[in-house]
Amino acid sequence: MNESSFYKKKAALEAVEFIESGMILGLGSGSTAWYALEEIGKRIKIGLLESIVGIPSSSRTAELARQFGIPMGTLDDFPVIDLTIDGADEVDPELNLIKGGGGALLHEKILAQNSRRVMIIVDQSKLAPALGTNCKLPLEVVPFSLRPMLSYLESLGAQTLVRTEKAGQRFVTDEGNFLLDCKFDPISNPRELAQNLKKRAGLVEHGLFLGLATDVIVAGEHETQHIKS
Ligand code: A5P
Repeated sequence: MNESSFYKKKAALEAVEFIESGMILGLGSGSTAWYALEEIGKRIKIGLLESIVGIPSSSRTAELARQFGIPMGTLDDFPVIDLTIDGADEVDPELNLIKGGGGALLHEKILAQNSRRVMIIVDQSKLAPALGTNCKLPLEVVPFSLRPMLSYLESLGAQTLVRTEKAGQRFVTDEGNFLLDCKFDPISNPRELAQNLKKRAGLVEHGLFLGLATDVIVAGEHETQHIKS
């Protein structure tokens, strides 16, 4: 396990401490969230957690949850989530986030918006003075809108890239859409950018998670910090 994975796991284990029996959980996507799934599965197996229902944010997360023995439900049956545990690609000092590196930002945002508590787990490398400093902003767009959407985003100052799989074909989300990774340089006004992005039909969702995180757990060399909004 490399250093970053070690801290990801540390943050994940810390977050799992906040889970109580009977909770409806939002299950995030990405390597950090998957450490949490593994631990939740272990605790269910030994009877430390009972009557848990997990709502997965991606098909990959659902697959892992099944593997770890976590009972699953849907938002149709459980429209209010007690606690969502998820990773992030970047976290700013106000606990705004960029998410979507794993391609699941739409479902992740739906879970976060319907959660009483949203706990974000990261290793210290994810902290940045401003969003967009170290990572690109993922956007989910309907395939029909792709070409004009690229022009629109470039008019907003973005350098755009259509996400592809290793074999070169376009990455397709769980909802059948494309993903764009956009470099905006540090984003000086994330709220204004979010408003501008939402002006275009065809843009299904963006990876700016503003004011959604209630807690961020950051694991690093010296300590594990628990920051609350
Ligand atoms: C998944 O779509 C993302 O939002 C992830 O939460 C994010 O990319 C963090 O991933 P890691 O935990 O693998 O760094």
